[in-house]
Amino acid sequence: MKFAFIIDPIGKLNPSHDTSVALMEAAQVLGHEIWVTQVHQLNVIEGQTWALLTPVRLTPIVRDQGRWVVGEIWFSIEQPTLQPLENMDAVFMRTDPPVTIPYLYATYLLDYINSEKTLVINSPHGLRTANEKMYALQFKDCIPTTIVSRDKRVIREFVEQESAAVLKPLGGKAGEGILFLEPSDRNLNSLIEISTQQGLYPVMIQRFLPEAKDGDKRIILLDGEAIGAVNRIPTGQEFRGNMAVGGRVAKTEITDREYEICQKLAPKLIADGLYFVGIDVIGGYLTEVNVTSPTGIREIDLLDNVSLGEKVIAWVENKIKTRL
Ligand SMILES: Nc1ncnc2c1ncn2[C@@H]1O[C@H](COP(=O)(O)OP(=O)(O)O)[C@@H](O)[C@H]1O
Ligand SMILES: [Mg+2]
Repeated sequence: MKFAFIIDPIGKLNPSHDTSVALMEAAQVLGHEIWVTQVHQLNVIEGQTWALLTPVRLTPIVRDQGRWVVGEIWFSIEQPTLQPLENMDAVFMRTDPPVTIPYLYATYLLDYINSEKTLVINSPHGLRTANEKMYALQFKDCIPTTIVSRDKRVIREFVEQESAAVLKPLGGKAGEGILFLEPSDRNLNSLIEISTQQGLYPVMIQRFLPEAKDGDKRIILLDGEAIGAVNRIPTGQEFRGNMAVGGRVAKTEITDREYEICQKLAPKLIADGLYFVGIDVIGGYLTEVNVTSPTGIREIDLLDNVSLGEKVIAWVENKIKTRL
């Protein structure tokens, strides 16, 4: 089969950490052709999505004593060609967040891929529907007490009532802009003003979960089913657990409560075409639903001695075969 991956420039990816590389590698290992493109290389011509597609060969990375070893040259590319994306069996939209206007526009361009010929993961419609912070709010019994507001009075009142809270910009990722708020903080008003850009942007304010010190668990869902998880533990000098801010990864299990959360999400995720998703769970509460370019596979593969990439690609193969 032929698979296209819409990614950031390949040379900027980290093969021992980025899930996009894990997926491409798994596709190649399972005998598929892989191509890469970028959002600025998408076009709609006569009602069809075309992309400048670059063929890629990867040198798979290897495990050695609990870590990944990457060769000096881990990929090679050939000349790109402009082709309709319906030449591909599957297209993986894996551009890194934040979700900007160019990102959103790219999803509109992806709407012109013939869905009877090509599977798009995740569906462009789903990517537009699911804001990574807001999507969780519909699962009321899974989330901690949360508000979304740009009104300083409303936010202050919530922080006073909760005595400690976490502020999240709605378009953030990798811990960026995440703030710990408490009523006695002399900077509280200023933090709210900066985060909302003087009341222009709504932000999420969530009850602070002290369990965050034990970890922020990333659970990978494929077609609504949990296939693996990794815990990310804050450094101790930092309340955020994100890997991007130094969070340490640790082996973990998925608890009954977490399976229950996944079961509640599954029908909605599937209906929205969100096939490959990473949820974040702290102390048994759902805090985020990552749909744009969820990561964690390399870490889980290493800790659990599995290949989630191959599992995902096998599912994609089957989905394509059974659909036609
Ligand atoms: N309600 C919460 N209570 C305590 N810590 C939180 C809470 N929500 C998020 N965090 C911390 O902030 C980090 C980032 O939060 P998250 O909502 O996953 O946003 P993102 O990963 O997109 O930046 C998490 O890894 C976690 O350590
Ligand atoms: Mg997160």
